[in-house]
Amino acid sequence: VVAICLALGGGFLWLYSDAKVSTVGSTDFNNELKVPPLAKSVVKRDGTRVFDLTMRAGKKEFRAGQKTSTWGFNGDYLGPTLRAARGEKVQAKIKNSLGEESTVHWHGMHLPAEMDGGPHQMVAPGATWTPHWTVNQPAATLWYHPHPHGKTEKHVQRGLAGMFLLDDEKSGRLALPKKYGVDDLPVIVQDVKFDGAEFDHGHKLMSDTGFLGNRTMVNGTLDPYKEVGDELVRLRLLNASTARIYDFGFSDARDFALIGTDGGLLEKATRMDRIRMSPGERAEIVVRMKPGERTTLRSFPNDSYADSWSTRFAGGDDSFDVLQLRAKKTLRDSPELPAALGELEVPDGSDSVRGRFFGLLTSGINGKKMEMGRIDETVTRGTAETWTVRNEHSTPHNFHIHDVQFRVLEVDGKEPPAELRGAKDTVFVPGNTTVKLAMRFDGPADPDTPYMYHCHLLFHEDLGMMGQFVVVEKGRKAGKVHAPHAHT
Ligand code: C2O
Ligand code: CU
Repeated sequence: VVAICLALGGGFLWLYSDAKVSTVGSTDFNNELKVPPLAKSVVKRDGTRVFDLTMRAGKKEFRAGQKTSTWGFNGDYLGPTLRAARGEKVQAKIKNSLGEESTVHWHGMHLPAEMDGGPHQMVAPGATWTPHWTVNQPAATLWYHPHPHGKTEKHVQRGLAGMFLLDDEKSGRLALPKKYGVDDLPVIVQDVKFDGAEFDHGHKLMSDTGFLGNRTMVNGTLDPYKEVGDELVRLRLLNASTARIYDFGFSDARDFALIGTDGGLLEKATRMDRIRMSPGERAEIVVRMKPGERTTLRSFPNDSYADSWSTRFAGGDDSFDVLQLRAKKTLRDSPELPAALGELEVPDGSDSVRGRFFGLLTSGINGKKMEMGRIDETVTRGTAETWTVRNEHSTPHNFHIHDVQFRVLEVDGKEPPAELRGAKDTVFVPGNTTVKLAMRFDGPADPDTPYMYHCHLLFHEDLGMMGQFVVVEKGRKAGKVHAPHAHT
């Protein structure tokens, strides 16, 4: 028996050993960080700001001499940064040149269900989909990515993702770093793995979290550095990885100010030296640099997978050197961070009219797998609710709700940590943990078109860890979900 165990154990070590790659301290930062361009837009006579996005296949040289097959928006990999202000009407013209159906979902955006870009708004190959809405939410770092049911992991990891920045009057007046690409940097973090010239998107046998890569990229740049010329640098962190959970901090343990979360600015900046982010989450941090110095944004080992099969066998080492910051010899002065930042426009739970419970297992939510034709929850327009989400086993999950931003009221009955005290649309739910969330559904009612809630570990989402809710007028019932059809 002992011999068999040893043989099996050895086999596992051999099978999984290549995932145990730690890049900390071993990274040469020899590629200048690419900054996604700001998307061009035209403003029509009625004030609508129009963006053009084409989804297409491409080839990208992430490493010299190696051309990798990719997908991107208006380019080979990732997409331009969209930017709009609160109160503006926006329209996106999405052309699908991929050769297969896809969608574009506006993650974190408060908008009508028909415009959401979820699995019910498929865009046929060759077709153009033109959603439009009015921005009505605070300044924030949002993002966009495809959401075709069962294929989201594949579409995102091939490169379809981009940022969508919102501004508002108050954020425009605040003395925060805001020179895009200079002292205000998008930091889109993805883990990747290569097999020869191509991406290797294979899952490890028995991985219960999905794809885990062995190195990271920022904005599609491997081993990136960024030279900065200001004392204060704002990093808009987006975990655009499909399954990996990061514990970000700096190599020299310096602290930073957390100024914003998924849905916008915090009430006041909070100093910290580590921030944990699961897939889909955003955080805006401000770090202070001294002339001539270097520091590295790093992902530290974390216990997020502690009890999961993934740690034991498939890449539990989450140490990565993510991005090196290099300060110039002389730096422009930056004003001190303002004492007050934003106002949280998320309810505090006190006016919730109803509670709901969501039990998470990789096999489904509340025991059900996603069904395109089934509406799982019906909420009344204009009301606040409290949702209790429990991870019922040890595999890590998170929970994302479309249409709304929420407040995390509790994590296992306790006050949430600082990084969960802002407006959120995605929250990490570690193994055997319960979170309590408060949100208000004040968007337009549409009994026939559902929004999604799901685990944002994309392998899990694709497996069916997703459910659908509709927003209806008081006293009305959910309608009948239209059979999914692609916009042609
Ligand atoms: Cu970022 Cu429903 O997803
Ligand atoms: Cu999950």
